[in-house]
Order: sequence, then C-alpha cells, then structure tokens
Amino acid sequence: MQENFSLRPFNTFGVDVNSKYFTEVLTIDELKDAIRYSKEHHLSVLFLGGGSNILLTRDFDGLAIKLSLKGISEEDINENEVLVTAKSGENWHEFVLYSLEKNYGGLENLSLIPGNVGTSPMQNIGAYGTEIKDIFVSCTVLDLENLELKTFNLKDCHFGYRDSVFKQEGKGKYVILDVSFKLTKKNHHIKTEYGAIKTELENMGITDPTIQDVSKAVIHIRQSKLPDPKEIGNAGSFFKNPTIPLTQFEDLKQKFENIPGYPNGDMVKVPAGWLIEQCGWKGKQIGNAASHKLQALVIVNATGKATGKEIFDFSTEIIDSVKEKFGIELEREVNII
Ligand code: EPU
Repeated sequence: MQENFSLRPFNTFGVDVNSKYFTEVLTIDELKDAIRYSKEHHLSVLFLGGGSNILLTRDFDGLAIKLSLKGISEEDINENEVLVTAKSGENWHEFVLYSLEKNYGGLENLSLIPGNVGTSPMQNIGAYGTEIKDIFVSCTVLDLENLELKTFNLKDCHFGYRDSVFKQEGKGKYVILDVSFKLTKKNHHIKTEYGAIKTELENMGITDPTIQDVSKAVIHIRQSKLPDPKEIGNAGSFFKNPTIPLTQFEDLKQKFENIPGYPNGDMVKVPAGWLIEQCGWKGKQIGNAASHKLQALVIVNATGKATGKEIFDFSTEIIDSVKEKFGIELEREVNII
C-alpha cells in the first residue's frame, strides 16, 4: 500500500493527481483483501484498468486499486471456434496480437485500441465495423457487496453503442475479472465494409485480405489520425457520436447541407467530430488542452501539463458551442472522476 501516490502513469491523459492510498493487485484474493481493507477503513475505491477512458479532475481521497490480473486461456468449442478467456489486466492490443498470431479471427478490427481487456465490456468497445458484443460470450465479475463471483452472459450485459449494464444499473457494483470471446479458427468473417478499411486495403494492394491484413489496415488508419497516448496524453474519442431524430436531422440538412449522418430507423447518428470541427475547434488549443489537429473528437493534453479540470472545462466549451450552433447536446464518453 502506497500513500499520496501519483496516478499520472495510470491515466492515458497523463494528468497528475494523487490518490491518498494506492495498491496494485495481481490475484482475486489480493483484490478481495484490498476491498475488505477499504470497507474496514471507510475508504472510497477507484479501480484502475488501462486508464484509457478516465479523466481525473481532482486528487482522490480514497484507495486506488490497479487491476493487474494476468493470463490467457483457451478451450475448443468445435472445429471452427475457440473460446478464449483473458484476465482483466491483460493489455487489449497485446491480446489482439496474441489472437492474430494463433490465427484466431474476430478481434482484428479492434486492433490498437488503448486499455485493458477488463474494461472492454464496460463501454462495449468498438471500431471499424466491430463491437466486442459481436464476439463476447461472458465475463466473470466480483460483486463488491458480498465479494462473490458472478458470470454475466451476453444478454445480461445489455450492450449498446458505447454502453453496457456496467455503465447503467450495474455501475459501481462489480469489478470485471476476466472476459471470454468466441473466435474463429478457419472460416473467418472478414469485415471490410467500413469505408476507411476498404481504402486502406486498396492502398496496400490487397484484394483478398486475411485477418492479419485487416489488423494492419486498422493499425495504419488509427496511427494516421489518432494520437498515441505515449506521445501525447488523450483518451481517444472524448464524446459519443450523438443520435438524433430523423426529423431534426432533416431540419439541420436544410441549413447545413453537408452534414454527415448514418440513419438507423427513425434516428440518425451524426459524427461528433464533424460537429466539433464545424464549430472551429479542430486543432484549437486553450491553455494546455486542445482538440487534436487530425481528429476533432479527441481532446489532448497538448503540453503534458494540463490539469483534469482544464481538460474538463475545455470539453464544456465544446459542448456549449455545438449546442449553440446545431442544437445537439454532446455526451462525454470518458468517465469523469
Ligand atoms: N469527422 C470530421 N472531422 C473530424 C473527425 C471526424 O468531419 O475532425 C467526420 C468525418 O465525416 C468522418 C466521420 O466524422 O467521416 C467519422 O470519423 P471517424 O471514422 O474518425 O470515426 P468517429 O465517428 O469520429 C468512431 C469511434 C472511434 C473509432 C472510429 C472508427 C466513437 C465515439 N468513436 O469515431 O472510437 O475508432 O469510429 O470506428 O464512436 C474511441 O472510442 O475512443 C474511438 C477512437
């Protein structure tokens, strides 16, 4: 147990706040001990995974627990499918690379997403035409009230766009310990419908892509416009892409004829990056916080010295100006602590 411990290395924004207490756990028993300790000493608890989806706006007056449970196991389901289970502290991209090395298909479109396996179900991570709900089978969680283990199957997780039971009614009640995915061994479902992947594969001169090729294409696209948190602090997309009623979208189209939208029934998903760029924020910096010059949806710690509060206030200014210009209220995707 450490005291007055800097959480800077544990959040990809690189924000420097202290936690009153800090501990790292490698096993379920260590995790249970840490939780019991927090209960006995009436400490609030902050669980840290890969730290890639949080913004720490103040010092934390409790016990921060870094989850470092490691290990990957697998079990054949049938000739073509394998169940692969990774513990929560495994790095997501390393897990994707492990599956590609074994030629297991299903995770390739989710290459290079920052963070750990354990947080992937929280917001149903997704990119380039795949969400984890497409390959998710179950996860084991620790119930924080009685310290018992519980299994959540696909239907229990209530996955939606960047959403799950763990962000709604289950919020703050469970710690995810491991996640199991159903991957293919031979007959892979190659997903290249997402426009940018098609273009990238064409540029690479590939007409009949393997899962490894798709992964390479995704990695190229991400590297070309998303900042690497190791070089410049960020948490990926800061906001969700808003979904608005078709009627509202049609009204907006009268005024802003180039507005992009992806219809789904009587709703339309509008790219937040476009809305933010139209308000003049792309590449703009205030103090130490900025909107990324290549992808307006990403807020960066431009100087490495930004406080969480500064980044939060910057995001509020973006929300206000998008609301004023388009009448759309952006919702933060990043967890604010
Ligand atoms: N756009 C702009 N200006 C910008 C950025 C985007 O006009 O500065 C417009 C363009 O029209 C572009 C469209 O937005 O065609 C979509 O952009 P992009 O393909 O980059 O995707 P996104 O909607 O901005 C989402 C996810 C990303 C994910 C990509 C690819 C959310 C909140 N974000 O971004 O996820 O990698 O799609 O699938 O849904 C993350 O969650 O951290 C993340 C990076």
